[in-house]
Amino acid sequence: MEFTPENKKKVSEILKRYPEGKVGRQAALLPLLRLAQEQFGFVSEEVMTYVASILDIPPAQIYGVATFYTLFNKKPVGKYHLQVCTNLSCCMEGAEETLSHLEKRLCIRSGETTPDGKFTLSEVECLAACGSGPVIQVNEEYHEDLKTTENVDRLLERLK
Ligand code: FES
Repeated sequence: MEFTPENKKKVSEILKRYPEGKVGRQAALLPLLRLAQEQFGFVSEEVMTYVASILDIPPAQIYGVATFYTLFNKKPVGKYHLQVCTNLSCCMEGAEETLSHLEKRLCIRSGETTPDGKFTLSEVECLAACGSGPVIQVNEEYHEDLKTTENVDRLLERLK
């Protein structure tokens, strides 16, 4: 397992942005994990160990960070990763209905991927767009105000 030559250049650029030494290496951890997820699709234990070896820090430190942030996938996800915020503000706007509607439409439960590998559904904590809930993050993109099942259906149609 290795970064592509192009991503190795990006790694060098990222490392140059931070001071040398332990503190700088820790600061580079998040952008390196993002880059790893971009290339490998998800952050497996093997990926964590690889990133730890680049940063010369214990793999357990990478594991702690990767499992804390929902933006890092610990297992393979579908082509579209639908992350539904069910935190307080979104819940008050109907996020639980949004989530259960998606479960019905996709015939999967939160945490699962459709058999064709197209959709993964996840329930996540606050996505920091609380004023316009319910909010769904689809891969890197935010979709807001998904209050009605019609809006959710329209989103699914666009992704099909
Ligand atoms: S509560 Fe949903 S984005 Fe903050």
